[in-house]
Amino acid sequence: MVKTKILLEEKDMPRQWYNLAADLPHGLKPPLTPDGKPMSPEMLSKVFPMNLIEQEISDKRWIDIPDPLLEILARWRPTPLHRAKYLETYLKTPARIYYKDESVSPAGSHKSNTAVVQAWYNKQFGIKKLTTETGAGQWGSALAFACNLLDLECKVYMVRVSFDQKPMRKTLMNAWGATCVASPSPQTNFGRKVLAQMPDTPGSLGVAISEAIEEAVADQTGQTRYSLGSVLNHVLLHQTIIGLEAKKQLKLAGEHLPDVIIGCAGGGSNFAGISFPFVSDKIHGAKMTIIPVESSSCPKMTRGKFTYDFGDMAGMTPLMAMFTLGHDFMPVPIHAGGLRYHGMAPLVSQAIVDGLMTPKAYDQVKCYEAAITWAKTEGTICAPETSHAIACTIDEAIKAKEEGKEKVILFNYSGHGLMDLLGYEKYLSGKLERYALGQDELVKSMEALDSLPQIR
Ligand SMILES: Cc1ncc(COP(=O)(O)O)c(C=O)c1O
Repeated sequence: MVKTKILLEEKDMPRQWYNLAADLPHGLKPPLTPDGKPMSPEMLSKVFPMNLIEQEISDKRWIDIPDPLLEILARWRPTPLHRAKYLETYLKTPARIYYKDESVSPAGSHKSNTAVVQAWYNKQFGIKKLTTETGAGQWGSALAFACNLLDLECKVYMVRVSFDQKPMRKTLMNAWGATCVASPSPQTNFGRKVLAQMPDTPGSLGVAISEAIEEAVADQTGQTRYSLGSVLNHVLLHQTIIGLEAKKQLKLAGEHLPDVIIGCAGGGSNFAGISFPFVSDKIHGAKMTIIPVESSSCPKMTRGKFTYDFGDMAGMTPLMAMFTLGHDFMPVPIHAGGLRYHGMAPLVSQAIVDGLMTPKAYDQVKCYEAAITWAKTEGTICAPETSHAIACTIDEAIKAKEEGKEKVILFNYSGHGLMDLLGYEKYLSGKLERYALGQDELVKSMEALDSLPQIR
């Protein structure tokens, strides 16, 4: 019988996170203030606690995971590595497909890996309340879970379209004691401004981030901070525990390095988690194809520009060097809410520029088709975001068959879709729409980038 579950014990958990910033061949471009000056750590200190800012700017290759955090992570880690044997058989592929199952965390996705870490460091710093945004609701749920564990207050701004599509996500957050409101909301200056201009807007992560930051910095007691579920260096750092475990598990399965690594990419965190520990092998000469997969309706990596841009719509974040569609970009309401972000993490963006990874974009209809193939073979219901990784995995497995090659494919199963069934319902009843993003719309939303500092 083929072994389909490769398990580690708690004692095998990695004791350090891997920081790709230490190894990138051309380094990272520094974050800037709106007038193009370097951003100092102190300037970020109203938004994030200093212990996380230190991680954000660190160029140390390995960063220790404190023991109390290992205890917390051990609630669901190490996560299983599975062999997708039933999908392989269905596709008649010579490829061996492995996936890391991050859906087993309490909140149902990889987001818990950084949520508990960020809540813990904030608590250490004396913070009492965290604010955040959420797209699909996975990140908001994860932070609500983490804040409950660490006895912190939690306020979540959820992008309106997802708030309406997935009402039970709010219930989940409420169950862990958090407050969740639809964004744009009437509760912040920026939310009111957007609502006045676009009363029927579906919202975007860019707007929700602005609202959450506004609330955090407005707290005069200094006891509130903002927490981000993706994009930033320290968030990607925390997710590397995924790839570090996968490396050990592949070895146990008798494999060397994978030939292909795949992850869906919204802001880049789960993709970074599975791939970065292997990117260091690629930098040192190993041959691997590493694919971040985005939605074709929010195609920053495949059709955007690598330049400085804000992380949010109001321009409250530092300028980051990243692939972007422009911070005003308002994506159409696809079901993979976590892929509706206008930018890509600076670390992933720089690795693309350095030729270490090759992004691809998929339409949501093709992704739901892949999700159904997955459900019928492997049996589980994946998150709409995860379906993008599965669609690409299926294509790579078919390619291996056409080439007659026994490739090893590793992908990240970033979350389950048991709270995202509306999209499945629409697909199954033939009502899911394909979105073709026009070039004119893209060019228009990227025009604003010309007035920001340029990469030299
Ligand atoms: C299950 C799942 N996968 C992937 C993503 C995309 O985010 P990231 O690119 O940060 O992993 C999200 C975001 O909400 C998500 O919920």
